[in-house]
Amino acid sequence: MYVAIMGYGVVGSGVATLLKKNYEHIVKKSMQNELELKYILDRRTFPGDPYEHLLISDFTKIVEDDEVKIVVETMGGLHPAYEYVLACLKAGKSVVTSNKELVAVKGFELLQVADEYNVNFLFEASVGGGIPIIRPISQCLAANDIDEIAGILNGTTNFILTKMITDGMTFDEALLLAQKNGYAERDPSADVDGFDACRKICILAALCFGKHVYPDSVYTEGIRKIALADVDYARSWGGVIKLIARAKKLEDGRVSVMVSPAFVQNHSQLASVDDVFNAILVRGDAIGDVVFYGKGAGKMPTASAVVADVIDCAKHMERKKFFGWQDGEADYVASYLESTGSVYIRAIADDVAAAIAKATALFGEIKLLSRDGAPEGEFAFTTAPVSEKELSEKLEGWNGVSVESVIRITDY
Ligand code: HSE
Repeated sequence: MYVAIMGYGVVGSGVATLLKKNYEHIVKKSMQNELELKYILDRRTFPGDPYEHLLISDFTKIVEDDEVKIVVETMGGLHPAYEYVLACLKAGKSVVTSNKELVAVKGFELLQVADEYNVNFLFEASVGGGIPIIRPISQCLAANDIDEIAGILNGTTNFILTKMITDGMTFDEALLLAQKNGYAERDPSADVDGFDACRKICILAALCFGKHVYPDSVYTEGIRKIALADVDYARSWGGVIKLIARAKKLEDGRVSVMVSPAFVQNHSQLASVDDVFNAILVRGDAIGDVVFYGKGAGKMPTASAVVADVIDCAKHMERKKFFGWQDGEADYVASYLESTGSVYIRAIADDVAAAIAKATALFGEIKLLSRDGAPEGEFAFTTAPVSEKELSEKLEGWNGVSVESVIRITDY
């Protein structure tokens, strides 16, 4: 059986390496006599690469070759990945992807097409890199009614926050280091502005709750505005700041989905997830809380998940392998303004005593926090649970103060 790879970047080259390195047992597990790489599609040239002879730049060679039964898409981005994947599925080829943007935006449609053409569309590597999470949710936890899922889904931002927390680096210094280490792209927006985590929580929410969640319906906030002052106040509160992506089933059948920085208590399982590691907490009615932890990115961890999907496709030729969800209607995701929780607020005022009195009048019972070296006029506190709608109204009506930071508090 022949396999093609589209996109010979970090993950694609990891897939080629792993297929060769562990060839014997991969073939055995895929229940085939052979599993050979036939093409690698990429516009770039790779002189001296061990797979140089397989490189092509014309997609039609793959889609028109009936011997190619499994196509690995590791190009990233929506276009032309979407068009290529669609064409492969319609040509009767199973597709494996690590592309979270593709699954988050087009997953419902591509799963339907795969179903129609009796092929598989698998995407274990799209969330959590090498961490097994798609299969555990859809198979091992299938007996549960899952009502909540939350986690640290982006390694780059977790690395940056870890450096701010443990080494006192500013956001800019930590971002530079993340870029130097090859974690963050030169344009780091997808990571630091929360879009990558948003795509991943959309995929998990669709799997857990059965309907597609489109990324543009999800309130998403990144970590650019987090200051060392906030890190210090979080410490004095008894926790750390993490970028948390979460999805929760509501009683009326809709879902609440959000990505934002959050205070996490030190005793939470998510608090000690550091550097580029990811962790995903799934809350099921039978299992209780279960946490999946590991390397959420990187060449070989991600290739590990992709190749496992290739093996699964090879084992399930002509048979549909799980997955599928309904489309999500326009009002399926509740507005974030409906969600409720405690928040941390840091502000600056000329008259701190008066500002605190007003804060108490606005928010009810508040808990003041302190930190060493706070400048004159700075104060910070946490509130009792408040709805997002009320919170923004209260903040608007709070005159005479400059609100520097508002961060949600989680109960995970
Ligand atoms: N940029 C992503 C991260 C890579 O930092 O987690 C894996 O999706």
